[in-house]
Amino acid sequence: MRIAATQTFPGPAWDELPDVTLLESWPPAEPLPGVEVLVEAVVAVGRGELDLLPDLRLVANYGVGYDRVDVAACRERGVAVTNTPGVLDAAVADLTLALILACRRHLVASDRFVREGRWRRGWARPELLGRDLEGATLGVVGFGRIGRQVASRAQAFGMRIVVHRRTGGLPLDELLRTADVVSLHLPLTPETDGLISRERLALLQDGATLVNTARGAIVDEDALVEELASGRISAGLDVFTDEPRVPERLLELPNVVLTPHVASATVETRAAMTRVLVDNVLAFLRGEPLPDEVSG
Ligand code: DGY
Repeated sequence: MRIAATQTFPGPAWDELPDVTLLESWPPAEPLPGVEVLVEAVVAVGRGELDLLPDLRLVANYGVGYDRVDVAACRERGVAVTNTPGVLDAAVADLTLALILACRRHLVASDRFVREGRWRRGWARPELLGRDLEGATLGVVGFGRIGRQVASRAQAFGMRIVVHRRTGGLPLDELLRTADVVSLHLPLTPETDGLISRERLALLQDGATLVNTARGAIVDEDALVEELASGRISAGLDVFTDEPRVPERLLELPNVVLTPHVASATVETRAAMTRVLVDNVLAFLRGEPLPDEVSG
């Protein structure tokens, strides 16, 4: 067995991989000698998991974020790591805008309003009054490929854009204090873990919206739950600290829209991600340079 996968991935490119063994569980129940390639998504690959794959040479990560893979531990053992950048930016930016619109225009609450037969009791209910995107300020935290696509879409809605990035833009605290909507587009690294702390959440304006399609752990989740429970802010959350666990209190709150880490989940994008992943594995099998090797 040379290739093992934690699951199959959609799109025609998947069938180009020779002899993939689907793992029944992750981590595997017992050591798997002979596995040279691990194909995985959103699972932890740390020292303990690597011990179970003594012949591993490549971790092919389905997704641009590879924060659950211990790249340093892989490097120590001569294991390369690849990801799938570049093909999911538009889909993630689309879902970000969907969450902004859903929060600012009470989309989910309006849907419930209709389904529960409450519309018959009156039109133009104050609780369904939203806020315009036109003229509102969007603070984009992290201005890589995805952040830029979010900004250009939001501009088309007439939003004013302010940006915070590692190498410039508005200082983060000032952005948090001034934006009507804040959207996170950073990788999870030791530097960004907990970046949106309790103190920083408190800087958000009353009525502001926080959107997170990046990684849950970038935000202090307990503090976020408290802010949301107070009703002071709203949030659109596609990612959580300990997925698939979602804090129980969020499930009852009307001012939060929850999605299950689906920002890149379109037929076209997921097939394109599979294409990139498979190209990396095929390059490895041919002994060629890996197109998307990550450096850590
Ligand atoms: C990504 O590509 O990082 C997505 O969030 C899936 O993990």
